[in-house]
Amino acid sequence: MLSKKMQETLNEQIKIEAESSQVYLAMASWAEIQPGIDNVTAFFYQHSEEERQHMLKLIHFVNERGGFATVPALPQPQLTFPSIKHAFAALLKHEIFVSQSINKCIEVSLNEKDYATHNFLQWYVAEQIEEEALARTMNDKLELIGDDKSGMYLFDKDILTISIDIDQ
Ligand code: FEO
Repeated sequence: MLSKKMQETLNEQIKIEAESSQVYLAMASWAEIQPGIDNVTAFFYQHSEEERQHMLKLIHFVNERGGFATVPALPQPQLTFPSIKHAFAALLKHEIFVSQSINKCIEVSLNEKDYATHNFLQWYVAEQIEEEALARTMNDKLELIGDDKSGMYLFDKDILTISIDIDQ
């Protein structure tokens, strides 16, 4: 059985994962109307879907442990970006924020002596390490590319492979 505090904390994390999905969905929709970045677009759509899965995993966990997962209202995310580089910088910033939030959930689980939840959250800790690494790799590559159009062509060509490599 989840404590009230643990349930509130996990429901807050459900909201953050849902927001993440919306944030990346907005990036995907923006990318889709930019010329020549079909794979960047696919990456954002895929990332948005993954965040939805993170949210669902939490919803099921809360409900299975005798709590009640609440589906949150969401603010509208940023809809447009000055450049692809700006979008990826926002993605990294957002992932760092999510990692901090997962750390807070871990802290609460330890304070509440909820070792089942602590164990469950380890999956998110590992996932955040991967996602931050992926976001940093993308940002580093974009920094190197600068305004070089052929570099951007290759970035778009490689992005799905880079993300698969880091996931493995
Ligand atoms: Fe589920 Fe990327 O945070």
